[in-house]
Amino acid sequence: MKICVVGTGYVGLVTGACLADVGCQIVCIDQDQSKIDGLKKNVLPIYEPGLEEVVERAVSAGNLAFTTDLHSTVAESDAVFIAVGTPQGDDGRSDLSYVEAASRQIAEALSGSTTIIVKSTVPVGTCRRVARIVHHTNPDAESSVVSNPEFLREGVAVEDFMEPDRIVIGTQDDRARTVMNAIYSHFVDKGAPLVQTTLETSELIKYSANAFLATKVAFINEMANLCDSVGANVEDLSKAIGMDERIGPSFLKPGPGYGGSCFPKDTLALTIQAQESDCPVRIVESVVSSNSFHIRRLGKRIAEFCGDVWSSLGWNETSLDQKTIAVLGLAFKADTDDIRSAASTVILPLLQKQGARIVGYDPAAMDTAKAEMPGLETAESIEAAVSGADAVLILTEWNQFKSLDWARLLPTMNAPVVVDFRNLYPPNEMSTHGAHYASLGRPLADVA
Ligand code: UGA
Repeated sequence: MKICVVGTGYVGLVTGACLADVGCQIVCIDQDQSKIDGLKKNVLPIYEPGLEEVVERAVSAGNLAFTTDLHSTVAESDAVFIAVGTPQGDDGRSDLSYVEAASRQIAEALSGSTTIIVKSTVPVGTCRRVARIVHHTNPDAESSVVSNPEFLREGVAVEDFMEPDRIVIGTQDDRARTVMNAIYSHFVDKGAPLVQTTLETSELIKYSANAFLATKVAFINEMANLCDSVGANVEDLSKAIGMDERIGPSFLKPGPGYGGSCFPKDTLALTIQAQESDCPVRIVESVVSSNSFHIRRLGKRIAEFCGDVWSSLGWNETSLDQKTIAVLGLAFKADTDDIRSAASTVILPLLQKQGARIVGYDPAAMDTAKAEMPGLETAESIEAAVSGADAVLILTEWNQFKSLDWARLLPTMNAPVVVDFRNLYPPNEMSTHGAHYASLGRPLADVA
């Protein structure tokens, strides 16, 4: 079976490369010539651990190729994945213009019987819309549209693809179901659960999964804030509630609010579609506002905590004005260069507005962060960022930040203030080093 993937972004590339790695014949298509030229030389347009090796292996095995030629590639294919972006539009809805354009182009090229698989995250009803576009553009084409959402986390996308918790296939067409079963046979044979359902259910499964996970994160962040207020410890709380099998331990780590290209966009899009269907999802609406409130609240907390510490050190000027804050971590989470809806993109401008000078460091996201925040200063190393700073702010849980030599770093700072919104260090250990340390939902420790 010949398969092509339209869109070599994060989802398309991981899907194409991983399917090719398990033996499918894949051609990845993109209209961006420079991306395709790069991919032909194994230069990936995204940072994703392990993906380069998969691409290299699949290309060497002769299973993976790249092209800009959509028309003839689609014409030769039995199955076509649509994996183009669905960014958030100005009105909060998903912008489906790339999906629609791809559908039209695919329709024009169809020949023979073809299964069109929508991998992009799309609101309920989109797959039927794609089918209508295809039919309208090429009434004679023999095709069937299937929903097949992805559940890939950035940073571990290859692992998530290769060992899926489940594969969801939305179609009521027997022929298309046979094609999908063939595409995923490697994974199903290895025991991956398969959920066969309707188009609408499949589309909604994707949004429900992300909304539920976002709810867990927003919930634990609210509990962390409450722990701070009442003197409780969120780590013990999270561990204890997670031991209940009905709750489960994952996605219960407090942080500076969920970000990335998926949770913020998908939760908002779900609330809008639900409102328009006259069936509002009040819990998800609360999650959306809880998350943005949480991030802004943390921005205020930095100024308050630093001001209190600087005052206790006898400084006359305790506002953020002209203070240097070293920020460790700009990406929305570890192991990615993605800063879309990252806490850094909200918190840093808030600090800058109060006059703070920000010096950021991130192992992968400095270029993307500088493109988004043009005034951002960056340092070449953790040491360079921290040296001379009036406070350090940790926003991303990169491994590199988890075992810093504070005994060496703190004396290089102008004041030993550490604000850690990923709870990477035991407060008492930081106290022992002489740090004034603030984290989320754990009893504050101060210099002994
Ligand atoms: C998320 C989902 O986890 C994937 O299953 C889904 O396929 C993907 O969206 C998508 O729709 O494409 P991703 O956005 O890569 O994946 O990131 P996550 O690892 O889920 O993290 C999302 C946010 O929640 C991050 O800002 C992270 O720091 C935060 N988070 C996560 C926490 O603050 N605490 C946690 O315990 C877990």
